[in-house]
Amino acid sequence: MRTYTGAFVMTHVFVLLQGVAHAAVECTGTFNKISASDYVAAINPGWNLGNTLDAIPNEGSWNNPPVRAETFTDIKAAGFQSVRIPVTYADHFVGTSPGWEIDSDWLQRVSDVVDMALNAGLYVLTNVHHDSWQWADISATGANLTAIEERMYQTWFQIGSKLGCKSSSVAFEPINEPPVNTEEQAAELNKINGIFLEALKDSGGFNTERVVTLVGPSMDSIKTSKWFKAPTGYDNPWALQYHYYSPYDFIFSAWGKTILSDQDIATIETDLENIRANFTGVPLVLGEFDASPLNTEPAARRKYMDVVIRKAKELNTAVMVWDNGLDHFDRNTKQWKDQQSLEILLNAAGGVSNSLSGYTTDASATEQSSSAYVFYKVGDNVTDQKISISLNGNTLKSISTEEGTDLTPSTDYTASGGDITFTSSFLSTYFSSSGSPGSKANLTLTFSAGATASVNLVQWDLPKLGSTSSTAVSGADLRIPVTWAGINQPAAVKMRRSDGVYLFDDWTQYLGPLQAGYTTFDGQWSWDGSDLILRATTVNAVIAAGVATTFTFDFFPRVAGNSLNYTLNV
Ligand SMILES: *[C@@H]1O[C@H](CO)[C@@H](O)[C@H](O)[C@H]1NC(C)=O
Ligand SMILES: *[C@@H]1O[C@H](CO)[C@@H](O)[C@H](O)[C@H]1NC(C)=O
Ligand SMILES: *[C@@H]1O[C@H](CO)[C@@H](O)[C@H](O)[C@H]1NC(C)=O
Ligand SMILES: *[C@@H]1O[C@H](CO)[C@@H](O)[C@H](O)[C@H]1NC(C)=O
Ligand SMILES: *[C@@H]1O[C@H](CO)[C@@H](O)[C@H](O)[C@H]1NC(C)=O
Repeated sequence: MRTYTGAFVMTHVFVLLQGVAHAAVECTGTFNKISASDYVAAINPGWNLGNTLDAIPNEGSWNNPPVRAETFTDIKAAGFQSVRIPVTYADHFVGTSPGWEIDSDWLQRVSDVVDMALNAGLYVLTNVHHDSWQWADISATGANLTAIEERMYQTWFQIGSKLGCKSSSVAFEPINEPPVNTEEQAAELNKINGIFLEALKDSGGFNTERVVTLVGPSMDSIKTSKWFKAPTGYDNPWALQYHYYSPYDFIFSAWGKTILSDQDIATIETDLENIRANFTGVPLVLGEFDASPLNTEPAARRKYMDVVIRKAKELNTAVMVWDNGLDHFDRNTKQWKDQQSLEILLNAAGGVSNSLSGYTTDASATEQSSSAYVFYKVGDNVTDQKISISLNGNTLKSISTEEGTDLTPSTDYTASGGDITFTSSFLSTYFSSSGSPGSKANLTLTFSAGATASVNLVQWDLPKLGSTSSTAVSGADLRIPVTWAGINQPAAVKMRRSDGVYLFDDWTQYLGPLQAGYTTFDGQWSWDGSDLILRATTVNAVIAAGVATTFTFDFFPRVAGNSLNYTLNV
């Protein structure tokens, strides 16, 4: 129940509010006030309802269907304690300055979705999301800061009024990843955190007692450490939120990077330690991070999840994984795309040690191995094959097939610490030298504690291309028909002009052999079930360069002999 008093809140009104009438919300019932540190402890781990209410212009515009209540039940059942609900308001304003009225249907929808999550037993963190690079971009040339401040206040006043009587399980975040490049812009963002709190105060309800997660510049840990200053004079219990998508090249499959190196792991740990050291005593939320099953190598990805979440846990930081709908949880089939990533996340967030598949960690390697697989090449004789697991204090309990049959030690495999050798007699039940390529089985390794590990038994051959060259045609993606033969996606794509210069980022010549001349997934190349895809940007770059360019597609496993060339002539 909530009632609107109709009283004008004029006592602490901003100058910029002159002339705009505001009513504060009053709530019946009680509010079980929770401290920011208790809140942060309770929400770990959390899940992001990505690309949904934050889609532009509307819910359903991007790759997800409209929210269904059952998604939250599924998320809670999977083991998450909280959901971050990003919301973009930019396309839902029905008024202009100075009132910036938001469409009441949209506010109602946000309120209803928040209730769905609360009904599933989840804590909720909601925000103003992609507005950060639309009307609220304080870093934009010529940005009218007065207008941004006015609109932020009005937006949060209305959200605060609408959601003001929700329980203490609901927390607010002012703005997602606000772009900030200078100290001056950072000062403006600090001010905006205060305007957000002012609007909440004015909006009434339980909003002055409610937990908020304030935000630093770009929600980047380094800029936040350097420039964030909490507003003073407000009562709200507050935590600080930051995001982490580093190393960028690994997370976004840039420059051929499929390896997470030991150096990368050390850097991740230092980054998380640094922001903690800058904000001792402040509850911290890592509100977004991700390594997507869509484009990262499984063993490296699982290591990444473990390192980030384990370190965050050690530093008393709650984690909320980003999921744009294509990443982790398939909301339609209710399947997790990488069961091991989920298990690793839950166990690491619970402080339980995980055993992890070994993989190449040397950034200067010429080939990449991964114990998330046993790879077998068509035409090779079946021999014993070894994988390695970092047990991390656990012991191997069993290895089972999808049918639930346990493998027999010594007959099917031998184990010595984390070294597990599958016998040729066992592997022969799946592989033969004349067998067809493809994934033959997934084995599940169970340990004394922590996540399971999986091993995908894959027979591979070189894929076949529908053609090996063409003449560049400007303006459109180039689709090259492919017949897959093992893992149905490219690992990385190298682009070398006939004059020896790399098509993009010639500086990559200084990187290791698996990265020199290699390019970036999605922006420069992609794939689907039937085609390798070179983006229009790439085709246009060849035309602009005016020289034929050879594209080397590497597949998994990244070993000698598992690459194909395609030449684009001009
Ligand atoms: C900036 O925004 C304020 C508030 O909306 C408005 O009054 C002012 O005219 C704007 N300034 C410019 C230069 O557009
Ligand atoms: C704060 O963070 C910065 C940047 O990450 C780091 O260089 C610095 O050492 C940190 N400060 C403390 C006190 O650890
Ligand atoms: C497979 O084994 C046979 C018999 O030992 C041998 O003649 C052949 O060369 C092997 N083939 C390969 C590809 O290693
Ligand atoms: C093994 O798991 C992978 C990844 O989920 C999947 O693509 C593949 O189809 C599975 N193999 C079998 C035989 O089910
Ligand atoms: C692909 O082309 C490169 C030159 O760009 C060459 O060095 C390499 O051997 C070729 N690879 C294959 C598989 O033909």
